[in-house]
Amino acid sequence: MKLNKLINKEKNEFDRIFIKFLKSHLSKEVLAKAMIYGSINGGKRIRPFLVSTFSKISKIRKNNYMRISFAIESIHSYSLIHDDLPSMDNDDYRRGKLSTHKKFNEAIAILAGDALHDLAFEILSDAQTHPSYKKRMLIINELAKTLGSKGLAGGQSLDLLYENKSISTSKIINMYKMKTSELFSFCCVAPFILANKSKNEIKFAYDFGQIFGLLFQITDDLLDNEKDFKSLGKTPGKDKKQGKSTLSSLKNKEKIKNFCIKEIKKFENKNKKYLLKNKLLKSIIYYNLDRFN
Ligand code: IPE
Ligand code: IPE
Ligand code: MG
Ligand code: MG
Ligand code: MG
Repeated sequence: MKLNKLINKEKNEFDRIFIKFLKSHLSKEVLAKAMIYGSINGGKRIRPFLVSTFSKISKIRKNNYMRISFAIESIHSYSLIHDDLPSMDNDDYRRGKLSTHKKFNEAIAILAGDALHDLAFEILSDAQTHPSYKKRMLIINELAKTLGSKGLAGGQSLDLLYENKSISTSKIINMYKMKTSELFSFCCVAPFILANKSKNEIKFAYDFGQIFGLLFQITDDLLDNEKDFKSLGKTPGKDKKQGKSTLSSLKNKEKIKNFCIKEIKKFENKNKKYLLKNKLLKSIIYYNLDRFN
């Protein structure tokens, strides 16, 4: 099956199960409504796709890996709700609809983000996610590091700090890796931890998430510059207007494309052993290049 078709098929299945889970797990109060609003309205669900791909390699049961994806999409949704707040990117639209603080209000959006973040830890620490409490603890520890000052939150703070400044390519890439790649790495690493994979295999999964996330954020920035509201579902040209430091603010598209291809080749050469065994992994690496072509 073509990669995009496969991603879409899994997205539809994930959406069905995730909404059922949220509705049965949460109350009907306004905070719960905002949490659901901010997490179900039509994301690409690319992170759950990576979780399922690495889980299938690890022979993790679907009941278990779906819960890891629930946790990750809760986190991802929290990060987007907060990212859109007036004190951050100040974006009124997300996934083609009003962003959560516009639909509800700012206080509810902050709390909905907080509660989605907490929900992820509630899901992962529950025995339904994996019978071994030791393994649950290992992935919870990994997620906490992924999200903290050296990961997503740290990267988001650099993103804001770098607005309207002249920032070097290497600093921008480091910021991308923190705000975006770390969570992608967690998607790949968590199933490998549960499956007792070797240190080297876990390193491969981590590096896979790092390069995927890097190319993903580079692509997001390029599309921000090029596409309209209809295809983005968020305000176009936002990065430029806000003076965001992105690779697109430093280099033209051709140079960015060459940079991405060089990074992919480096990764492929280093990881032939794993990539030759799995054609799907190899094609996923090229997913982002296809998005911006
Ligand atoms: C947007 O993520 C934020 C970035 C890390 C660039 P996605 O592009 O995965 O957002 P959805 O979930 O598909 O809406
Ligand atoms: C967001 O990056 C990265 C996160 C960790 C949330 P962007 O600010 O570029 O994401 P969009 O364009 O608003 O989706
Ligand atoms: Mg942002
Ligand atoms: Mg943003
Ligand atoms: Mg963006």
